[in-house]
Amino acid sequence: MDRRRLLMMSSVLLVVAVIGAGVTGQIAVAFDINRFALHRYIAYTLLALALLHVVLVAPTLIGLLRHWSMPRRRAHKAPPAPASAPLGRRSALRIGLGLAASAGAGAAIGFWRRGLDVPAELNEAGDLGVLYHRWSRPTYAGGLLKSLGAIAQPPLYKEIPGRMAHTLPPPTDLARMPLHQAIRQRRSRRDFADRELPMQQLSDLLFLAAGETDHADQGWPFRAFPSSGALYPTETYVAVRSVGGLEPGVYHYQPARHALALVRAGDLSRVLMRAAVEQEMVAAAAATFVLASLFDRARFKYQDRSYRYALIEAGHLGQNLYLCAEALGLGCCGIGAFFDDDVNALIGVDGLQEASVYLLAVGPRHAST
Ligand SMILES: Cc1cc2nc3c(=O)[nH]c(=O)nc-3n(C[C@H](O)[C@H](O)[C@H](O)COP(=O)(O)O)c2cc1C
Repeated sequence: MDRRRLLMMSSVLLVVAVIGAGVTGQIAVAFDINRFALHRYIAYTLLALALLHVVLVAPTLIGLLRHWSMPRRRAHKAPPAPASAPLGRRSALRIGLGLAASAGAGAAIGFWRRGLDVPAELNEAGDLGVLYHRWSRPTYAGGLLKSLGAIAQPPLYKEIPGRMAHTLPPPTDLARMPLHQAIRQRRSRRDFADRELPMQQLSDLLFLAAGETDHADQGWPFRAFPSSGALYPTETYVAVRSVGGLEPGVYHYQPARHALALVRAGDLSRVLMRAAVEQEMVAAAAATFVLASLFDRARFKYQDRSYRYALIEAGHLGQNLYLCAEALGLGCCGIGAFFDDDVNALIGVDGLQEASVYLLAVGPRHAST
């Protein structure tokens, strides 16, 4: 293959890459795709091809420049035409390999660069939460792309095999306080009396905050709190310090059975207090609820937006707990300040598939409050 043919080939590839970069760039703008990998790869490949093209035409350019810079000799001597000079097999192979290596390097740079523009966007957003909020805006194109990489639906219930399950007493009718009164009276109460929480009250709290309240609609089990797609990514754990008839320990609530499965035995309230940035109410509470999100349960359907939904859902559950505690005359306080890794370790989750998102300390309160 001679140099002229090679030059023609690289020119054609260059034109194709320019068109590709233009089209993918337009798609990215039209559908608001923040980081369109295809566009990035094509753009870097284009850059590499352009460099190669410059290398290929360099001898011709240099020859022309030399010719123009020596006017006296121009009349006698024709400019060199290296572009038309035939190439040996070896040189052709070398240039071919160079072409492939350049294209590969371009794609590799694109891959390497794919995460490096985050800081600029982060500066613009001012906060990681805002950045996530922006990124999780839905687009039709984005939805279509993401649906291609969809994951299978995980089970609706979490089982902790081999753990002792404690069936809770059936919930009672909490008609003792009108809803409007519970809402008006509710406060975050951090002072707990050193009294046991009756098992019945724990049962009522769990059922009315997180329980399975209805199987009516074609057998789909609905719970006490709303959930996007009724997928219920929120798992409820209770770190029990002082509940009548229940050994201290960390338990996992199983809504289908209205039962508690033991995760870890022992009074871990002080460990949890340290994990909650030394907030003393945790060591004084009869029980601390730990709400965790099992992300895949909603992610398989809602992709990037599922994290928003998981937190909103935990908030619904938390409000149920606040109002039930109020109606039962108990104290309750939501806790967002905690060391995630420590709380995750305590309830036995990895922080990736499932992570703690919200704590709520609950217990009997002093007579005067
Ligand atoms: C997401 C969230 C996180 C919170 N984190 C804490 C916390 O770590 N420590 C605390 O003492 N109170 C915490 N609170 C309780 C708020 O301080 C309380 O709701 C607020 O002061 C309003 O008071 P009220 O709940 O009595 O109406 C939290 C509340 C929410 C909703």
